[in-house]
Amino acid sequence: MALYKKPDFWSLKAQKEGYPARSIYKLKEIDEKFTFFASSRNQGGQRILDLGAAPGSWSLYVLRRYGSQPLCLTAIDLLTLSRRFDGGLFDREDFFFIQGDFTSEAVRAELENRGPYTALISDAAPGTTGTRTVDTLRSLALAEEALGYAKRCLSPGGNMVIKVFQGGDTAALLKEMRTCFNSVKSFKPAACRDNSFETYYIGLGKK
Ligand SMILES: C[S@@+](CC[C@H](N)C(=O)[O-])C[C@H]1O[C@@H](n2cnc3c(N)ncnc32)[C@H](O)[C@@H]1O
Repeated sequence: MALYKKPDFWSLKAQKEGYPARSIYKLKEIDEKFTFFASSRNQGGQRILDLGAAPGSWSLYVLRRYGSQPLCLTAIDLLTLSRRFDGGLFDREDFFFIQGDFTSEAVRAELENRGPYTALISDAAPGTTGTRTVDTLRSLALAEEALGYAKRCLSPGGNMVIKVFQGGDTAALLKEMRTCFNSVKSFKPAACRDNSFETYYIGLGKK
């Protein structure tokens, strides 16, 4: 039987402000602290890829942040997006959602065809097993896959953020990111749960 989790400060705030998940505040803090989207080089509008997008808070943040400015947002998840708070934003022509696995060949080809991207955001996380070594390995595999997308279809000057579970060989991932970006930071936003071992790696200025 699934355990009921009492909504906490961040989850309640998200619902009040029209987002399906607390994760919105992680991206917002990253954006504000690192001028993440503003510093991502773009000519003629942002083209953003959101990996692991459901239930949709990060995509909603991007759509609301850009309003009527030129934008093309592509999002993917194994699951569907929540339509509870989007007020029709997910029907916009500049938003494109794929339900699928971004590690599969077919989806990879489709996502790459929609690039190049000016920014890549990945909050993708595996379903957790409770065994930390298994969970960190799976999370690392998703983060490496996301970095692969950045290498292949993020434009020069573009920024990326990826979620990783700490543990495992995250040092190797950071090292690889440093070869691709002018600056790489590790950052744990305030909205991460106290007992969570997730953190975010931020690559600024793709070489
Ligand atoms: C923490 S949630 C993302 C929350 C989202 N950023 C938001 O703000 O609403 C992690 C998501 O990663 C997705 N995911 C994990 N592996 C995936 C894969 N291989 N392909 C697509 N999505 C994946 C999961 O289905 C899950 O919805």
